[in-house]
Amino acid sequence: MKTIAHRHLRLISAFLVGAAVMAPVLFRAPLQSTVAASREPVRARHGVVASTNEVASRVGVDIMKRGGNAVDAAIAVAFALAVTHPAAGNLGGGGFMMIRLKNGRTTAIDYREMAPAAATRNVYLDKNGNVIQGEGGSIEGYRAAGVPGTVRGMELALKKYGSGKLSWAQLVEPARSLAANGFTVTRSLARSLRGRREITRGNETVDENIEYLAKYPETKRIYLNNGNFYNEGDVFRQPDLAATFARLQRGGPNEFYEGQTARMIAEDMKRHNGLLTLDDLRGYVAKERETLRGNYRGYEIVSMPPPSSGGAVLLEMLNILEGYDLKKMDSASSERYHLMTEAMRRAFADRAEYMGDTDFVKVPIAGLVDKKYAAQLRSTIDLDRASSSEQVKAGKPLGYESEETTHFTVVDGEGNAVANTYTLNNSYGSAVVAKGTGIIMNDEMDDFAAKPGTPNLYGLIQGERNAVAPRKRPLSAMTPTFVLRKDGSLWFTVGSPGGPTIINTVLDVITNVIDYNMNIQQAIDAPRIHHQWLPDELVYEPYGLSGDTQRALTSRGHKLIKKPRYLGDCEGIMIEEKTGIRLGATDPRRSDGLAVGY
Ligand code: DON
Repeated sequence: MKTIAHRHLRLISAFLVGAAVMAPVLFRAPLQSTVAASREPVRARHGVVASTNEVASRVGVDIMKRGGNAVDAAIAVAFALAVTHPAAGNLGGGGFMMIRLKNGRTTAIDYREMAPAAATRNVYLDKNGNVIQGEGGSIEGYRAAGVPGTVRGMELALKKYGSGKLSWAQLVEPARSLAANGFTVTRSLARSLRGRREITRGNETVDENIEYLAKYPETKRIYLNNGNFYNEGDVFRQPDLAATFARLQRGGPNEFYEGQTARMIAEDMKRHNGLLTLDDLRGYVAKERETLRGNYRGYEIVSMPPPSSGGAVLLEMLNILEGYDLKKMDSASSERYHLMTEAMRRAFADRAEYMGDTDFVKVPIAGLVDKKYAAQLRSTIDLDRASSSEQVKAGKPLGYESEETTHFTVVDGEGNAVANTYTLNNSYGSAVVAKGTGIIMNDEMDDFAAKPGTPNLYGLIQGERNAVAPRKRPLSAMTPTFVLRKDGSLWFTVGSPGGPTIINTVLDVITNVIDYNMNIQQAIDAPRIHHQWLPDELVYEPYGLSGDTQRALTSRGHKLIKKPRYLGDCEGIMIEEKTGIRLGATDPRRSDGLAVGY
């Protein structure tokens, strides 16, 4: 192990000249079902990056040390993760970047994928009207990809909010160098490249070896080592991806959408009967959106608006919970889990009914996040009995007015902050690498309702508002979020992967901090639960609920399901009130993450 760690550090330092402080590899204790923290948060006086990959976190710190701000650092981290965390870090996907400037202004960059022009309502149905499974459908293969937004998103963020001290090419360079020179494969990456992932068969969820990446010849060429799986300790180089980054450095962001890279993607898609064309790439637009704001017990919550459902569902749940004195209940008690489950059930029922891309459909956002509406929903909750999801239909909000994703967060020395969640959707997206580019393409089209009312990859039922349409953005659950102190200053940032579980992970962390006074690491470590209306199941983590708590919840009528794997991979930063010290925390549920600061 020592050799691997050393090799790993040597390779990182090879490209990081004057690199960040090399923090020792830290011992992480196994999760407990109580709230013992796995470790203290990482403390930094100036800037800090918390991401799921230590190498990428160091890239971000290095950018800040060279004068870049949090947005510059976030862009470099996003590109670096496309190399070092290829299951979710990406050029071929999309996501959302929340930015809070040091002057308190917040904004949201939407770089979610758009549906190709050929993606009409029934594009994923066979001639009998059934959802197409496997290759040709919305989850796997050449037809599953939406138009990637990451490069345009980073371009927009840099143009409007970068420090101006570092160029586009400089921010791309660490990723290019990592792809060209390689980096050391960790145990977790080796497992993931082998394609171990969760499969649900009937009522059972198992961790299975599906060797997903070996299926497509080009993908196999890139992600396997001469036809064999990579092992822990091997060096993983991606020369095609390095060449793509070099073209992006020379040609700027347009290279991805109009240049040689665009042509390579479009030609490969055409060759394999894909949907995505050169015109689709040319037509992609990243959008700046107004953040969604609400409050919980007097603390302002700033989160992502549609096309993510994250912010609205989060606020709806917090509004419901605000009516209960959670503080009086133990953080790991059945009373608290019961109320959280009932809030989740109701907000996810509304998500299914009401939410979609607001550029295409009307979504009653104001009504959904209204406190009076929450009070109305609260009145339907029985303190002693679980409701049945069959009987809980979407409510009537008032008035009208979006196995792998990754979240990272940055706070710089001046107080600018970024919370960014982006993804390929499933682990390694569609499993298709566009020939010669080293770019793995997303399968974000599965976030649409391929057939409204039929469950998607995550078992989510979604409605008409999220039906497929050309150039529309599929509804997301990504929830990059800022929580402010009562004086309006930044208190903490939080976000996670996990499909629909994302919103509940963020909810857990926020109430852990506000109601139970946990520090950011404790709040992230604490066991999580998940309920998404349908299926009517309360999901909990290994060792997550004590036997007593399980029995108490079952006797209230909840159907409990133990997940074989943990929920989410949450990253957060908190600002210490008295000192202004940045406290970084990554999720102990994954082994490669680390908050790095200076
Ligand atoms: O946008 C969404 O909600 C999903 N595509 C996110 C997928 C995800 O988090 C997978 N991670 N485990």
